[in-house]
Amino acid sequence: MHKVKKAIIPAAGLGTRFLPATKSVPKEMLTIVDAPIIFYVVEEAISAGIEDIILIQGRGKSSIEDFFDTSYELEDRLLKSGQIELLSRIVRIREMANIISVRQKQALGLGHAVLCGQRVIGSEPFAVLLGDEIMISQPNQKSAIGELIQHYENLNGSIVGMMQVSQADISKYGCIDFEKNSAGPYRIRGLVEKPKPEEAPSNWAILGRYVFSNGIFDELSNQTPGINGEIQLTDAMNRHSRKSPYYASALSAKRFDAGDKLGYIKANIEVGLMHPELRSGLLQYIRETANSLGAK
Ligand code: G1P
Repeated sequence: MHKVKKAIIPAAGLGTRFLPATKSVPKEMLTIVDAPIIFYVVEEAISAGIEDIILIQGRGKSSIEDFFDTSYELEDRLLKSGQIELLSRIVRIREMANIISVRQKQALGLGHAVLCGQRVIGSEPFAVLLGDEIMISQPNQKSAIGELIQHYENLNGSIVGMMQVSQADISKYGCIDFEKNSAGPYRIRGLVEKPKPEEAPSNWAILGRYVFSNGIFDELSNQTPGINGEIQLTDAMNRHSRKSPYYASALSAKRFDAGDKLGYIKANIEVGLMHPELRSGLLQYIRETANSLGAK
C-alpha cells in the first residue's frame, strides 16, 4: 500500500468573508500571531510526514508562494545583523516543504480545486487540508492530518475529520451519515453537502481535513455541479463511498475557521496563549477585560 506523502491545499477562494482585508491580501496570508494562516496548515502537513504540498491557487495569490521561497535580501540582512535565531526560522520556512503550485483557472468549487491536483498526485493516495482552517494540537498530540493518515494506513479506506455542530449550523457544512455503533473511526453511510437542517441525517459536519484513496479523482472528473452551482467535493465523496470504504473520525486537535472573523480572532488568542513570550501578558489582558466586562 502507498504511504500518504502528498497533500493538496486548496487556496483559491476569494475570501469574501474577510473583506476589505482580503481585497489585496490572500486570506491564507492573514497573520495568526506572527505567521500567516497557510504556514500553520503547511506545518501540520509536514509534521505528519507529507513531503509534497500541492497548492491550488487562483489569481492574486502569488504572495503565498513567495512566503515559502528564499528571500535573499532579508536572509543576508539578518545574517549581517547577527539575528541568527530569526534567520534560522526564516530558513526553516523555505526548507520545510516542497511546494508545487497549480492554478485553478476558474472558481468552479472545492471538488474542482482538488481535481486540479490530479496530475501532480498521480496514482497515490493523498491528504487534503483546507487552507483557511487551522487545527491546533497540544505539543504532545498528533496533528489532525497525522491522526487521519494513521487511520487511513490502518484501515485502508478514505477518511474525513468530523465535528459536531448545532442542527441549525449543519447547513453551512458537509454532513456525515455514519454507523454509530462502533468506537470510531466510524464507517460512513453517506454524505450530503449543506443540507437543510430538517433534512440533515446528523449534526456531524465535515471539517477541512481529508485523506483519500486515488479513486476520488474518477468521481471528481465526472461530477456535475451541486449546491450553489459548484462542483462539490462532498458529492464526489458520497458517490465514491458507495464503491470504496469511507470513514469519519472526530479529532483531538482544536479547529479554527480562520477565514471567518470570529474564528480568526479566537485562533490568534489560542496561538498567543501557547506562545512563551506572549502568554502571561495576554492572560493578564484577558482576565482584566473579562473582569471589567463582568462589572458592567
Ligand atoms: C467546505 C466543504 C464542506 C465542509 C467545510 C468545512 O465548505 O464543502 O463540506 O464542511 O468546507 O469548513 P465551504 O466552507 O467551502 O463552504
